[in-house]
Amino acid sequence: LREHEEFTKVKNIATIELGRYEIETWYFSPFPPEYNDCLKLYFCEFCLNFMKRKEQLQRHMRKCDLKHPPGDEIYRSGTLSMFEVDGKKNKVYGQNLCYLAKLFLDHKTLYYDVDLFLFYVLCECDDRGCHMVGYFSKEKHSEESYNLACILTLPPYQRKGYGKFLIAFCKLSAVHLFNFHLAYELSKKEGKVGTPERPLSDLGLLSYRGYWTRVLLDILKKHKGNISIKELSDMTAIKAEDILNTLQSLELIQYRKGQHVICADPKVLDRHLKAAGRGGLEVDVSKLIWTPYK
Ligand code: ACO
Ligand code: ZN
Repeated sequence: LREHEEFTKVKNIATIELGRYEIETWYFSPFPPEYNDCLKLYFCEFCLNFMKRKEQLQRHMRKCDLKHPPGDEIYRSGTLSMFEVDGKKNKVYGQNLCYLAKLFLDHKTLYYDVDLFLFYVLCECDDRGCHMVGYFSKEKHSEESYNLACILTLPPYQRKGYGKFLIAFCKLSAVHLFNFHLAYELSKKEGKVGTPERPLSDLGLLSYRGYWTRVLLDILKKHKGNISIKELSDMTAIKAEDILNTLQSLELIQYRKGQHVICADPKVLDRHLKAAGRGGLEVDVSKLIWTPYK
């Protein structure tokens, strides 16, 4: 059950307070009607409950006993932790997260049916608790080969590589599901390739293009170009269409005798790799502490 698209509506909440940040919002988000007259909302940074007044938040903080997102911690490396939140077990949290996220997502449908989703919430942790940096969501049993429904890095944390980290983590968690768990899922999903849910925002496309570019160019370099798009897709689980578009945007595709041919001049590849920017934060596979959703 999807709510109709809300993106044409006028922005209501102008700023939010979340942990130690005051953040200006970007877009309309369909908060319940009693919040219609609010310019500013105060979020508990741990349970994501939101309130109209600072005093309400202060009262809440005295009794809220969460110090991290609900759900399982599935990754820890240094001060970074990832929590997996089942929307069915933590419905209110899931809904709160969607309200919050929509403030920074333009043309995304908001899912009220959070039951069907898993939320992966990335946090920077210190002695005060685990502070949300961003998240991505994933449909539990997706009919399509989408592997990521929504991705967000909160504005104060943007352009630090977290977006690429989230994308890489999403791919990696899928691979681990393939490898370690649920033999029947394995056979069902084997050979299934992923692509993010459309439409992608401009920033979303930039982040994905950057990620795909790095992954693809690294392989092209290693194989000196002797590889087909189909083979690239099998190796990376990136959809062939996304590979073709990415390589085309880099002008690495030529059309010869009715076939797409990849041009892989090492000098050209190196130039593109440099331009593709930083690799982002690395996901350290050995830091996964994994109990998958069943
Ligand atoms: N201007 C230009 N390029 C940008 C910008 C920007 N403001 N932000 C990100 N990029 C590009 C850059 O190429 C950057 O790499 P670089 O820093 O090495 O040059 C690359 O994207 C990724 O940067 P990260 O630091 O890894 O990503 P970040 O943590 O900033 O998160 C994200 C990217 C998630 C898209 C963030 O901008 C965001 O949350 N935006 C609002 C929500 C959104 O649009 N989400 C995607 C919707 S589509 C979907 O959900 C499937
Ligand atoms: Zn709380």
